[in-house]
Amino acid sequence: MYLQDRVSRRIGELASAGLLRKLQPPRGIDLCSNDYLCLSQHPEVKRRMAEAVMNEGCGSTGSRLLRGERSGFVEIEKRFAHFKGTEAALYFSSGYAANLAVLATFFEPEDIVFSDELNHASLIDGIRLGRARRIVFPHLDIAALERYLERESCPGQRFIVTESVFSMDGDIAPLNECASLAERTGAVLMIDEAHAAGIFGERGSGCIEAQVTGPAAMLSINPMGKAFGCAGAFVCGPAWAIEYLAQRGRPFVFSTAPPPSIAAALDAALDVVEQSSERRERVLSFARFLRTLLAERGFDVVLEGSQIIPVLIGGNSEAIGVAASLQNAGFDVRAIRPPTVPEGTARLRVSVNVGLTESILRRFADVLYTAVRNVAAA
Ligand SMILES: Cc1ncc(COP(=O)(O)O)c(C=O)c1O
Repeated sequence: MYLQDRVSRRIGELASAGLLRKLQPPRGIDLCSNDYLCLSQHPEVKRRMAEAVMNEGCGSTGSRLLRGERSGFVEIEKRFAHFKGTEAALYFSSGYAANLAVLATFFEPEDIVFSDELNHASLIDGIRLGRARRIVFPHLDIAALERYLERESCPGQRFIVTESVFSMDGDIAPLNECASLAERTGAVLMIDEAHAAGIFGERGSGCIEAQVTGPAAMLSINPMGKAFGCAGAFVCGPAWAIEYLAQRGRPFVFSTAPPPSIAAALDAALDVVEQSSERRERVLSFARFLRTLLAERGFDVVLEGSQIIPVLIGGNSEAIGVAASLQNAGFDVRAIRPPTVPEGTARLRVSVNVGLTESILRRFADVLYTAVRNVAAA
């Protein structure tokens, strides 16, 4: 069959470029997941979710606009909006769906969107669906963004789209500068807080809370499968924008509502985040510790940054080789390759979580050092 032949050719191309992925369940010490606060295993989060399954059943049986609506969703949305300091929030079944919904719903053809070059695939796909003109600015380059904003006008609305903590680089956008630039130029700022929510800010609500002193972003997207250890995502913003999303956001309208029990799990996870700042302080102190260990061993890492630490390897097969050595030594670290990251920048995306210890991190740094040296010598 034509299709089967073409697919097998494509698979062959992936294999020869070292880009074939393997589905591999967790094995070894977690140094790669997004479960930064270990909330996916928190006893109270699990208990609340299990209890809700017993009370409410498994599936939600329909879209939120039909029979899938539950009071649990409405209550957790109100609570999360309050946590983010916004008027309203809407919960989506995934961060990917939330990003598609936000960008495809608000952008129209007479608009321009300015997008950081390292934005996540879900933002890139949402921008494609949105049909606005796209201008990509160099990563974190606010001066370049300002120049583009001065130069490029349109009959509609201008938008700036960025992550706060970048998922594959672990660096942090200067949100306060983005927010004042947006305000000055009349652009609307949209921020994906996937890897910041639960970690940054005094209350743990993210980098907007930690950085932005004046008028903040119009909308933020807050995926809950990362630090909150659950699933789905809250989009937070003014009531008029959230209402429009519920009316017109296709991933919201045309999709079965998430299992109702997730609302109970999110409520319990939010309790933990609000009540204990120690977890996020511990994660960030592990991040500093590991960054220092890696710098001492000659790796090109900055000492300050988030809980995500990229270890650049370069070649795809080399990155796979280093990851395999680490896995054999009992560390769960995965090779990240294009198209997730740009060509020639294959890497290990190391992430720390509260369940680790300094002695594990020391051992990991030593094994990593040897693995990289061995691959370079091979
Ligand atoms: C920055 C960013 N945004 C959005 C998403 C998508 O979120 P979800 O995994 O809930 O679909 C991810 C997931 O990796 C992400 O890293």
